[in-house]
Amino acid sequence: MTRPGSVTVRAPAKINLELRVGAPRPDGFHELATVFQALSLADDVSVSLTGGSIDDGVEVTLDGTQVDGVPTDERNLAVRAVLLLAERTGVSDGVRLHLRKHIPVAGGMAGGSADAAAALLAADLVWQTGLTREQLRALAAELGSDVPFALLGGTAIGTGRGEQLTAAMCRGTYHWVIALSDRGLSTPAVFAEADRLRAGRVLPEPRVSERLMAALRSGNAAALGAHLVNDLQPAACSLRPGLLQTLEVGDECGALGALVSGSGPTVAFLAADSEQALDIATALGTSAVADQVVRVTGPAHGARVVEGAWPTS
Ligand code: C5P
Repeated sequence: MTRPGSVTVRAPAKINLELRVGAPRPDGFHELATVFQALSLADDVSVSLTGGSIDDGVEVTLDGTQVDGVPTDERNLAVRAVLLLAERTGVSDGVRLHLRKHIPVAGGMAGGSADAAAALLAADLVWQTGLTREQLRALAAELGSDVPFALLGGTAIGTGRGEQLTAAMCRGTYHWVIALSDRGLSTPAVFAEADRLRAGRVLPEPRVSERLMAALRSGNAAALGAHLVNDLQPAACSLRPGLLQTLEVGDECGALGALVSGSGPTVAFLAADSEQALDIATALGTSAVADQVVRVTGPAHGARVVEGAWPTS
């Protein structure tokens, strides 16, 4: 079988429908219980053979709507993903990456993690490493807590530091309006602020709510909206008080629910249908609380090939 010289993989942004954060662990991470949902907002990563050696470095080019502040060196998680795969499998063929970015940078939507998942899968196909899905998943978990979910997609419960996943039953399609901020928030800083705000409190073991899972199983968007919760929201709002105003717009226009996504500063609003999503987006636009507003749906696919794969049959 000939191998493709270039493969493009699309990987989704996520939001956390519920994010329960426990006490800090000895390794510095926090024990989590979370419900991820993959969104129709996605990045595409193309991995192409250069004809040279991986030791020459990995060139990165960018396009798309969210390229500001994206590093093109080893600070980019997609670069780290291909280097990790090369190191573990011993391949030496050089590759270059092209990232088409639509997921905001440092927005709490796991954009960097999506790029890492896409790069891992695309490089695996270009290099034909023969790794199993489980081996790829383990490499994804090494790269970051949210990378395994970007591979899996759909709706899933995450435990541990977020990397241990169980697919969740989810009926229907949910309409989300996403309010983006031009200035990101640092994930470690938000976790540290949460620790500061909760200092001295005995924290329960994190677990996801049965009511939220029941809402997803029955496809009841109103019930889902009532149970959206993020333990990092007070910390994100403490570091970025303007988020409180953004969240209020959801109340004012009757959104089913609203919450800060992950470590923020992105805010997600759940709408009853696409028409209400348009109303919420318009209200956000006129109130000028967000720098950009996008309408998306969930759940969406995990990382998958969109170009360059050979026929499987
Ligand atoms: O795993 P990832 O690289 O995405 O994590 C980024 C940072 O977020 C960590 O260095 C840590 O400060 C914080 N984090 C955490 N607990 C988690 C996940 C992330 O404290 N479960």
